[in-house]
Amino acid sequence: MAGLFDPYSLKGVTLRNRIVVSPMCQYMANDGLANDWHKVHYASLARGGAGLVMVEATAVSPEGRITWADMGLWNDAHAEALREIAAGIKNGGAVPGIQIGHAGRKASANRPWEGDDHIAEGQPNSWATIAPSPIAFGQNLPRVPCEMSPADISRVQADTVRAVERARDAGFEWLQLHYAHGYLAQNFFSPISNQRTDSYGGSAVNRSRYLLETMMAVRKVWPQERPLAVRLGVVEFYGDDEAMMNEAVALLRRMKKEGLDLVDVSIGFNTPEAQIPWGENFMVETAEKVLKQTGLPGTTSWYLSSEPEKADALIREGKIDLVTLGRPFLVDPHWPYRAAKELNIENPSWATLPAPYAHWIARYR
Ligand SMILES: Cc1cc2nc3c(=O)[nH]c(=O)nc-3n(C[C@H](O)[C@H](O)[C@H](O)COP(=O)(O)O)c2cc1C
Repeated sequence: MAGLFDPYSLKGVTLRNRIVVSPMCQYMANDGLANDWHKVHYASLARGGAGLVMVEATAVSPEGRITWADMGLWNDAHAEALREIAAGIKNGGAVPGIQIGHAGRKASANRPWEGDDHIAEGQPNSWATIAPSPIAFGQNLPRVPCEMSPADISRVQADTVRAVERARDAGFEWLQLHYAHGYLAQNFFSPISNQRTDSYGGSAVNRSRYLLETMMAVRKVWPQERPLAVRLGVVEFYGDDEAMMNEAVALLRRMKKEGLDLVDVSIGFNTPEAQIPWGENFMVETAEKVLKQTGLPGTTSWYLSSEPEKADALIREGKIDLVTLGRPFLVDPHWPYRAAKELNIENPSWATLPAPYAHWIARYR
């Protein structure tokens, strides 16, 4: 079995190892534009040795941002700024990926360190939110969203396709649609937030329609040789999770037929009532089931062990195909260097980096 430091190929793309930097919002953009913060942040993550660096949730429209400081991809200036981010990641030897999404009823919030709550209507940096049904998330996010009309649905899908075209042209090689975490796609998928009576609500097939249609539209413009992934919340830790898993598996199988390449198995985060059993590797068993039942390659995150031997074992034991870490990379962007050293990897794949790194790292044992 391959290990953490073996290359991984999917479609026309090869990662130098099986380590992924999970998408992590920085909430540091103005008007959706990437800036110097993002350049340094993403370039250092790539130079740190990961195989794939996922750029944070990037909004398809201004109203689709979680906070006013999210990154966006709704105009060409955004694409130009992101071109530099993709190039910086590539320069560090990693594959540049990007997550595209719309925040749905969780949009128009304060940044996490400034309250993490909905900004009151009429206040600066606040805007009207949209979702499948006029049902609020609750607790810190009490804003009731406007119910999307069929025209709204078509518009957001068109915005998504346009954002994907821009990501494609800016040099990203791996795309992830954000279908998790209580944002717009998850709002459609979940009966908690979707109580529509038209063809986008009701049965599982109807609640999956927005996600499937959007993915199919995106596949038409995203090059066949570049991987297309979704991050899907498959369990909620609330209500009938078995039913939710079955619906998720059915949807993923359908998406696989339409050209989906990989799934990042995640959590719904669509209700404040969820009782999530946080703990090391707690999503791995769920991910294994989803991968087995769909036949899709995939990954998961949330407290994956960042002890190198345990992370390596997740791959060697065939539980998941890629190890996706978030916060460990904020603590240590060079986590892969440390892991390679601890695992006695003879020829770490970043030996291809420019000499100031490669030369010395080869001797640092
Ligand atoms: C600062 C921060 C920002 C995040 N932003 C996103 C995001 O943009 N998209 C997403 O799907 N998940 C996001 N997440 C979740 C991470 O991708 C990841 O799944 C989570 O941190 C769990 O992995 P970890 O236990 O290795 O940190 C974020 C997490 C953090 C800590």
